[in-house]
Amino acid sequence: MKAHFISDSVYCLHADVQTDELFEGIWPIPDGVSLNSYIVKGEKIALIDLVRDWIGAPQQLEAALSSVNLKFSDIDYLILNHLEPDHTGWLAEFRKLNPRAEVIATAKGINLVKSFYKIETGLRAVKDGDTLDLGAGKVLSFFETPNLHWPETMVTWDAQSGSLFTCDAFGSFGALGERVFDDEFNEKEHAFFEAETLRYYADIISSFSIFVDRAIQKLAGLDIKCVAPSHGIVWRKDPKEIIGRYKTYASWARGPAKKEIALIWGSMYGMTKTGLDALIRGIEKEGVPYSIRRVPDENVSWVLADAWKSSGIVIAMPTYEYAIFPPMAYVLDIFRRKHVFGKKVLRIGSWGWVGGAKKEYDATVEGLKWDSIESYEWAGSPTAEDLAALEAKGRELAQLIKKQP
Ligand SMILES: Cc1cc2nc3c(=O)[nH]c(=O)nc-3n(C[C@H](O)[C@H](O)[C@H](O)COP(=O)(O)O)c2cc1C
Ligand SMILES: [Fe+2]
Ligand SMILES: [Fe+2]
Repeated sequence: MKAHFISDSVYCLHADVQTDELFEGIWPIPDGVSLNSYIVKGEKIALIDLVRDWIGAPQQLEAALSSVNLKFSDIDYLILNHLEPDHTGWLAEFRKLNPRAEVIATAKGINLVKSFYKIETGLRAVKDGDTLDLGAGKVLSFFETPNLHWPETMVTWDAQSGSLFTCDAFGSFGALGERVFDDEFNEKEHAFFEAETLRYYADIISSFSIFVDRAIQKLAGLDIKCVAPSHGIVWRKDPKEIIGRYKTYASWARGPAKKEIALIWGSMYGMTKTGLDALIRGIEKEGVPYSIRRVPDENVSWVLADAWKSSGIVIAMPTYEYAIFPPMAYVLDIFRRKHVFGKKVLRIGSWGWVGGAKKEYDATVEGLKWDSIESYEWAGSPTAEDLAALEAKGRELAQLIKKQP
């Protein structure tokens, strides 16, 4: 990988990670993820965000540095906007190569440097509005943006080039390859990254949507020419685009999202699926777009992304041992943790002996602030009457979605 020129004295370096390993131990990244770092040069040299020793990432970073004639030992300041190990895991090794570089983070970030890496010296805590003068007219500023998505997070601002280094905020899944800038990708590639940005947001950021709003408001006064996150595309042509996307995703935490329905289903022997097919006919008659995911076959990462973007949700599952079909219990638990709130929801399902899913389901979703339509259950395979009722339920939900603002 080579370094990419952003502006005089500012470069993006990135490592692409392609692995079957899950991101954060939970989220699949079949198309990889990029770990972006940045170099800002004055008389002194700052490196913004590091990598983890993960599938050759440090070696890729080293190669990118050497493409601008730099070595790790040339770095004077290592700025850590966020202490999650995807951006810091290689810190101890970096320290061995360069014991003199000062490590800069918020006070909470410095505490994490100490506890994660047992490093006690050469650390500088910065707070909101503090600056770092690199000489030759380059001055970096720091703004605390807490809970994006950890308590210690901050962004770094280079006023001279108008570059905002945001670490996880405004980031995305998906490896970049040889290109990093928004104007270098075609429409199809942008569609891919848009889907991966939504999935990244839903998986990683969604619980902290209120802090996304706060950060965007706080940074509104800056004349941002380049949004430079530490995962995914660097936005130099249209930085407002990615900020706008995050703003929209954050707004979906408060209620209405897209006029779409996310159908999430699980079934042991297909009886619930037959009922769902009738419900889908109702939705189709109303012309409301929908997505469909089966659990546990499809990973909750995509289920969550679909649910996040949709105003309507259908949960279709049978009763299993007097309770919820277990993979759906996991989905609902993730929805609670990730604040999938304010949705219009319908639950349907088949049972064999006496049911039981409904009782556990009703108790489970109580905390989700959902606007639920009366659920529909049936015994065994659905009768013609059940199918007609399910189609009507599908229409009812679709009409509600169409009517919302
Ligand atoms: C492992 C297992 C556990 C089940 N537990 C219950 C139960 O507790 N209560 C009930 O009414 N039916 C129970 N059933 C029956 C199913 O809910 C019933 O067959 C239903 O129609 C299955 O729908 P499906 O074809 O969509 O999987 C169970 C079935 C299986 C295979
Ligand atoms: Fe993170
Ligand atoms: Fe990250």
